[in-house]
Amino acid sequence: MNSEKIEIFDTTLRDGEQVPGCKLNTNQKLTIAEKLDELGVDIIEAGFPISSPGDFHSVSEISKLVKNAKVCGLTRANEKDIEAAAEALKLAKRPRIHTGIGTSDSHIKYKFNSTREKIIERATQAVKYAKTFVEDVEFYAEDAGRTDNDFLAQVCEEAIKAGATVLNIPDTTGYCLPEEYGQKIKYLKENVKGIDKAILSCHCHNDLGMATANSIAGVINGARQIECTINGLGERAGNTALEEVVMVLKQHTDLKLHTHINSKMLNYMSVLVSDLMGMPVQPNKAIVGTNAFAHSSGIHQDGVIKNRETYEIIDPADVGVNNSSIVLTARSGRSALAYRFKHIGFDVTKNELDFLYEEFLKIADIKKEVNNDDLGLMIEVFNRKIG
Ligand code: KIV
Ligand code: ZN
Repeated sequence: MNSEKIEIFDTTLRDGEQVPGCKLNTNQKLTIAEKLDELGVDIIEAGFPISSPGDFHSVSEISKLVKNAKVCGLTRANEKDIEAAAEALKLAKRPRIHTGIGTSDSHIKYKFNSTREKIIERATQAVKYAKTFVEDVEFYAEDAGRTDNDFLAQVCEEAIKAGATVLNIPDTTGYCLPEEYGQKIKYLKENVKGIDKAILSCHCHNDLGMATANSIAGVINGARQIECTINGLGERAGNTALEEVVMVLKQHTDLKLHTHINSKMLNYMSVLVSDLMGMPVQPNKAIVGTNAFAHSSGIHQDGVIKNRETYEIIDPADVGVNNSSIVLTARSGRSALAYRFKHIGFDVTKNELDFLYEEFLKIADIKKEVNNDDLGLMIEVFNRKIG
């Protein structure tokens, strides 16, 4: 199988933690980092060391703890930030510094009041300086999604010459369409001299709900790293959800791209991060929402009872969920009711089912969901009537 590996760069502890109200303490970050390592992520972005003494401390503790993954610290393109990151990462087995600068006209004009030439100068100086501390330096071109492709290619070329091993192409504002983002990656693959010395990375935000689609378009067009977070947490509408890109690549073997993630831990990771961050997961969230494997309409339930594949493209066990569930509502049919009766130990005949189904609908019209206790009570009433 000539499938290529996609590196998974988890930024739950950096971009994910930028969500208002999601602040984690060092112990909580260590718990998540240890589990991310077990999950099989390739890189853990542990924080932004210069941002606060607490974040610095967390990055150094994570550096000591993590056994397999590379540990990465974020910096802006200046010496103080880079020195802080290098110091925080000094005990990491495989340290990475992630440095960069805004490259779109809007960032150059409003954030830096600068020029394209000066931005290239700052970018290359930052990469060269980071390189004096660590071998592995990732460069980000912030707002690459809205940066003109020719200029972006020029920046990337200079960053590679300065020693960058990974080029992060962030769609910082979540503006790009999948086609557009994919073409940007393709353009860079084809036009940046020395691109074979570095890998391209997708870092997509979800402002238009396209972070996952854009990341997938990126890897289809030649990127080999995806930056993502558990449950898609992150600034504003969030980042690419790790569980989504991992399962897209796992389900679509036709893409011939794979990750080293242990998908059976995905549900566990989602619950862990949601609990520690106090951020509930929406029930209909792809892969890890509580409804992701719940079937409630009669037509779907009938199909799933006959064969799971009729309405499920993922085996729930593959993401660590025990079973798909048949939820009994006023939209459920007789087969779902009979299935559930059987499940709780009552084998009902066809005539009994016809009668019980009418009773069931009366309850279901009042309640949102009919549970096993309701079914037990129905059987009791039925037995009393006929006995
Ligand atoms: O969204 C973004 O551009 C970022 C960079 C700092 C990598 O998070
Ligand atoms: Zn980001």
